[in-house]
Amino acid sequence: MPETEPLFTKLAGNYDRLNSICSLGIDASWRKRLAAEIGQCQRVLDVATGTAEVCIEVARKWPDAKITGIDPSSHMIRIAEEKTRKLGLEGRIDLVEGSAENLPFEDGLFDAVTIAFGIRNTVDPLLSLREMARVLRPSGSIGVLEFAVPSNSLFSPIYMFYMRNVIPLLGSIFGCRPEYRYLAESIPSFPQRTEFAELMRDAGFEPPRWFELTLGIVVLYSGVKAS
Ligand SMILES: C[S@@+](CC[C@H](N)C(=O)[O-])C[C@H]1O[C@@H](n2cnc3c(N)ncnc32)[C@H](O)[C@@H]1O
Repeated sequence: MPETEPLFTKLAGNYDRLNSICSLGIDASWRKRLAAEIGQCQRVLDVATGTAEVCIEVARKWPDAKITGIDPSSHMIRIAEEKTRKLGLEGRIDLVEGSAENLPFEDGLFDAVTIAFGIRNTVDPLLSLREMARVLRPSGSIGVLEFAVPSNSLFSPIYMFYMRNVIPLLGSIFGCRPEYRYLAESIPSFPQRTEFAELMRDAGFEPPRWFELTLGIVVLYSGVKAS
């Protein structure tokens, strides 16, 4: 996969606003579902945290949890820090610069690991999943949110038209048309459902399960670290 950190550095300032516009505000419910799926936990790592939306949802859902968010984009981390400070969550959410392929944490440190709309943007998704397994304790849980092509053959062409044409047009309002075109076009070629579940199994997660959200435009994958 190509390196996408520079692309996200360009998008950082408008990222939250564009997400809400493009998803008609549904994206918040996907992250809430992810936070619920990992179950009650004390130490959580959110990889490719971006503007810390998942960290914030996990903090709200699990009041005893301490969360670490990691992202290679210093711009994203700066925005995430401002947001968590404004919400008074800076004592519970730590933000760190770094990549999924080389997590700067010791083995078995976390009870749960999350990644939302990030695994597709890593350079090496399998290595990233293996790193997430490494920093999880045995039986610790993983939750992954990722876009997918809907399996319904009537809805799928409508959705792909929206992704290929409307999303880049919305991106152009903020001067980011090519970036949003790339993001939309990378969805069909990324492993989804059974194929992604196989990657999770290769990385050491059992049993990989998945749930379709919003007519299958997003898939939530979950599992636990095999002991
Ligand atoms: C689509 S955003 C998702 C942000 C956030 N998780 C959310 O739910 O909105 C993808 C993020 O992946 C980050 N990213 C790109 N390459 C990465 C890598 N190799 N390791 C970890 N994160 C990466 C980008 O900087 C960006 O913040």
